[in-house]
Amino acid sequence: MSVAVAERSAAPPQHALRPVISFHGVSKVYPNGTEALRDVDLAIHQGDFCFLVGPSGAGKSTLVRLLIRDEAPSTGRIFIDGQEVSRMSHRKLPKLRRKFGIVFQDYKLLTRRTVAQNVAFALQVTRPGQRHMREKVEEVLWIVGLEDKLDKFPDELSGGEQQRVAIARALVHRPRIFLADEPTGNLDPDTSWGIVQLLLQINHRGTTVMMATHNREVVDLVRRRVIAIDNGRVVRDEAEGSYLREGTATL
Ligand SMILES: Nc1ncnc2c1ncn2[C@@H]1O[C@H](COP(=O)(O)OP(=O)(O)O)[C@@H](O)[C@H]1O
Ligand SMILES: [Mg+2]
Repeated sequence: MSVAVAERSAAPPQHALRPVISFHGVSKVYPNGTEALRDVDLAIHQGDFCFLVGPSGAGKSTLVRLLIRDEAPSTGRIFIDGQEVSRMSHRKLPKLRRKFGIVFQDYKLLTRRTVAQNVAFALQVTRPGQRHMREKVEEVLWIVGLEDKLDKFPDELSGGEQQRVAIARALVHRPRIFLADEPTGNLDPDTSWGIVQLLLQINHRGTTVMMATHNREVVDLVRRRVIAIDNGRVVRDEAEGSYLREGTATL
């Protein structure tokens, strides 16, 4: 019995070893000549939580845009779940994008719709004809702690609450990968901390999370994987990292 268990754990299935996200020699040059990413190699596994850090203009958002194929790389290859996204046909992009939940610095909520309608709207777009819509909406609003704000309008909520609605909306189609691009950029420190706690909780449920940020306090408190980008290059990739290289004032 114990031998069988040992054998099984010694040879995990291939899909368990394969990263959910991988970049191989990826560069991105925008049409105006800006080199936003240079020769990036990365492997992120299912269930990882990582911070993408670096100053403004480092290339963080470009990396996020390449992941969802909002932009294509100039050179190199990107794989999600073993599928090459850098060469994916446009026909396959909607299916690719359903793997992701994504939130940005500005919440982009529909101002004339209630909290519940904002979340339901995302579900109608990604999966039309969905059954039990109300239950799903209530479930994700409960996860983000807004179950009592269903019928409020965005302008009746604080910034932190609006970001939680955006997170609920991104969660409602059960993404495998959650991308947050500067989600705390408009929030005060206490509220930011609440949002990061929520992302950690989402990760705890098994979702891979990548958070692009230049919020040093948050990164240093959480101590998770840190991928530092400077001038388009990955300059550091550390488990349990800090915002700056330990003992220095540099990335
Ligand atoms: N659509 C674009 N066209 C041209 N240059 C861009 C575009 N988007 C971003 N850039 C440039 O690419 C570099 C990286 O930008 P970005 O990925 O937004 O960095 P970050 O998110 O780390 O602030 C910057 O120099 C920025 O000005
Ligand atoms: Mg950015």
